[in-house]
Amino acid sequence: MAILSDMLSALSEEKKTDFLRLVAYATDKINEGIVISDAIAPNNPIIYANEGFERLTGYSRQEIIGKNCHFLQGEGTDPAAIDSIRRALRQGVDCRVDILNYRKDGSRFWNRLSIAPLRDGSGKIIHFVGVQSDITELKDTRESLERTNTVLQKFQTDMNIELAQAQHVQEAILPPPLPPSEYIQIASKFVPLAQIGGDFYDVIKLNESTYGFLIADVTGHGIPAALLTFMSSTVFKNSAVGVYSTCEVIEETNKRIVGKMPAGTFATMFYMIYDQLSRKLIFTQAGHPPALLIRPFTEQIIPLRTEGSLVGIFDHGFIEYGQGSIILQAGDVVILYTDAIIESIGRTFLGKELDQLIALIRQRLDEPIETLLEDIYCYGLSCNSGAKYEDDVTLLGFKVSK
Ligand SMILES: Cc1cc2nc3c(=O)[nH]c(=O)nc-3n(C[C@H](O)[C@H](O)[C@H](O)COP(=O)(O)O)c2cc1C
Repeated sequence: MAILSDMLSALSEEKKTDFLRLVAYATDKINEGIVISDAIAPNNPIIYANEGFERLTGYSRQEIIGKNCHFLQGEGTDPAAIDSIRRALRQGVDCRVDILNYRKDGSRFWNRLSIAPLRDGSGKIIHFVGVQSDITELKDTRESLERTNTVLQKFQTDMNIELAQAQHVQEAILPPPLPPSEYIQIASKFVPLAQIGGDFYDVIKLNESTYGFLIADVTGHGIPAALLTFMSSTVFKNSAVGVYSTCEVIEETNKRIVGKMPAGTFATMFYMIYDQLSRKLIFTQAGHPPALLIRPFTEQIIPLRTEGSLVGIFDHGFIEYGQGSIILQAGDVVILYTDAIIESIGRTFLGKELDQLIALIRQRLDEPIETLLEDIYCYGLSCNSGAKYEDDVTLLGFKVSK
């Protein structure tokens, strides 16, 4: 203000008029509305308004000069916003509020209003200047984002409840802990990536001395994968009851689910049957990483493999599953795992994942089966810089006691 008045007093009358014309012209070109009120006259009447104000509000200058700006307010205007302007004017300080205003034609607009006091040389407030910006679009976008956000939050809450219920159901398809046996110690670890996942395992008692052990990984994770795990595990259970051949069970499972899986989805499985009395283990590998047989006494670690491909893709007759067998010894440990372990180790030891897993187990030949599974799980994490696994993790194993 002082600089402008200093400038003006240095100009001739003619130049002064030219300069003021220039300022008025420039002010009119601005998009925002600008008004100046007389702070000394009663009711703070407007003494100047630019073209931007006319464009924004639809009122002509002639109509509003001498009036207080509150004619822009209406029934939707928030009294708290008006209060904050009132307070700032009374205290003689700057203020900025977003306030709902109405144009001459009654249409609403959101006004980002800034008001500042203008003082004379003695410091007395003689005018207020107000700048109005139309932020309707911004406000509408924000409100619609907030509405969308509320809908999304509700959707997320509902989804979490449904996922928790689905997780509950999925946990129910996992076998309950088997009663301790004097012949074998069984252990498992199951950590789904999402609340629900595509891995599952099963331990079934075929007769007093014979157990079936299945580990499976269905493509993907989340709800679609969980639905496929429900289907695959039910089909497996139905195929496994009373059947003492692992390749027959896998063949039957494949036959029943092929054509029912959505295109591009499949399962990998490893199924083995162990007879505690004869100590005979038979097994079938179906697109799944090999099981590991650990022989602490001879320090051997043997990957168990057979012929066979993914489950749920190829028609019965087109594909055959092999069956391997081996006689176990006291102290032997057999471990099944899903590929999350291998993929995680592969991050550090590309192409040498299995060797690396075997090397880890070799250092832990005498560990109890639960500790060994936990160590394998943690080792996979450490290969992944301690970050989370990118897939569900399942480990299942047993140790021959005597
Ligand atoms: C320079 C100036 C510009 C103003 N511009 C607006 C405006 O654009 N919209 C609005 O709702 N109020 C505006 N006001 C506020 C009202 O004019 C008025 O001061 C406010 O409603 C509080 O006064 P009241 O107690 O008479 O309602 C402005 C005030 C001043 C001093």
